[in-house]
Amino acid sequence: MEKILILNGPNLNMLGMREPEIYGHDTLDDVEVLCREKGRALDFKIDFRQSNHEGELVEWIQEARGLFRGIVINAAAYTHTSVAIHDALKMLDMPIIEVHISNPATREEFRHFSYIGLLATAVIVGEGVQGYVQALEKMVELLPS
Ligand code: DQA
Repeated sequence: MEKILILNGPNLNMLGMREPEIYGHDTLDDVEVLCREKGRALDFKIDFRQSNHEGELVEWIQEARGLFRGIVINAAAYTHTSVAIHDALKMLDMPIIEVHISNPATREEFRHFSYIGLLATAVIVGEGVQGYVQALEKMVELLPS
């Protein structure tokens, strides 16, 4: 079974109550359930994590080498600021799928640039929490069978 790491950055633990007009009413636990269901259907073993700390995300990405076949990442605000997460991802030899619940390109200017997008294999934005499900479907296409 292929192991896929799904990483979530800061404030995504507040999904459901955080700006629901932008991010919707599903909680991060709901997103995890969606990912686990899709993972089961696609024969993926899902490791689903969230952190508010840049260094913790960097360490998880470093540890992913050799353990996972692919990574799905919503780095949240760190998307637009973190060279450290960019550098950690650069060391991975696996598909990297960047996900955003909203479409940052249609929001404030400071969300338009993505350090993750510079090296992502695929990017899914503006599909709500279903973007995570779509990312797992995309992962099937990207992984050699
Ligand atoms: C987000 C978009 C980011 O700009 C923002 O900082 C987030 C969530 C999204 O999923 O739409 O925290 O990554």
